[in-house]
Amino acid sequence: MSKYRIAVIPGDGIGTEVTDSACKVLDAVSARFGHTFEYKTLLAGGCSIDAYGVALTPETLEECKKSDSVLLGAVGGPKWDDLPGSQRPERALLDLRGGLELFANLRPAILYRQLSSASPLKEENLKNGIDIMIVRELTGGLYFGDRGRRDGGNMPDGTPKGVEAYDTEAYSEAEIERIVRVGFELAMGRKKKLTSVDKANILESSRLWREVNERIAKEYPEVEYEYYYVDNASMQLVRRPGDFDVMVTTNMFGDILSDEAGMITGSIGMLPSASLGKPGTPGMYEPVHGSAPDIAGQDKANPCAAILSAAMMLRWSFGLTEEANCIEKAIEKTLENGYRTPDIAYTTDCIRVGTREMTARVIESIV
Ligand code: IPM
Ligand code: MG
Repeated sequence: MSKYRIAVIPGDGIGTEVTDSACKVLDAVSARFGHTFEYKTLLAGGCSIDAYGVALTPETLEECKKSDSVLLGAVGGPKWDDLPGSQRPERALLDLRGGLELFANLRPAILYRQLSSASPLKEENLKNGIDIMIVRELTGGLYFGDRGRRDGGNMPDGTPKGVEAYDTEAYSEAEIERIVRVGFELAMGRKKKLTSVDKANILESSRLWREVNERIAKEYPEVEYEYYYVDNASMQLVRRPGDFDVMVTTNMFGDILSDEAGMITGSIGMLPSASLGKPGTPGMYEPVHGSAPDIAGQDKANPCAAILSAAMMLRWSFGLTEEANCIEKAIEKTLENGYRTPDIAYTTDCIRVGTREMTARVIESIV
């Protein structure tokens, strides 16, 4: 019997509904297994801009640091779209990632057997299923590099370029090493295959990325190690997704590839994520989908990604493996029983339900 303090950041749009679902499921887990989950609800994103003028206040970040773990819904919406980059709701995500030093982003992309008709890929490309763990570096690279605007000087023919904007990709050995180790450790517990993705034919930062990967790979002789250029990786991902196990990559490439991996499973509403820092520090767990303002407040959102994110929290932050398995099995059982939120209701024989009923069905399989 243990007590865990969870900072809950519902955020904007459907974030509120899906985090509510995840907390209800956690309550069911606590009733069954005898744990106590204590929630502290905090504002971040657009709602924080409205309340405090910034997407993330230093006080909110402090509260997150003091908690055992953070559960986040989604941030953003059309209301805040016209704000300059540094003041947008998404800034909250970057400040949470940077502030909590969450360098490792785990994004599992799984094709649920019950949902295979939702995948846009042909059946022949899905014969080996999809079970990929994308490991995305989260606190470095282009997202956190030096950026700005300057006078661009002149074109070769003398025409003035006007303003020039730049972003930079920088990676240090230590930053690469720690994320690559996460990848290899995960591979050891899975199918023992690791694909490192870079653009080493062009980028110096990618050449260092590859050098470090190759060095660390020697420490894991049991893991089959391969590397791809990112353009090729994005092609292979749709051609033969079943051949990948763990994919480790940079912040920017991971952002793109994880959306691609999510799309081929057919259901972004099913995809959870974990963002982890050093052992013993709070992790952050959030669905991969966004705030979906078009369906917010209508009981239409798929709560599964948020619920599965809560399961990842139990597994990765609290070491509660049995409890995490219990949630994951409950989700599968609910799908097996035919329940579908609108985003995954592809077949005529399924039972279409809303956010609240889907959540209730998942809970039924837990208690
Ligand atoms: C993601 C999102 C974020 C990112 C945005 C909202 C800042 O796309 O988590 O993948 O680019 O990291
Ligand atoms: Mg993204």
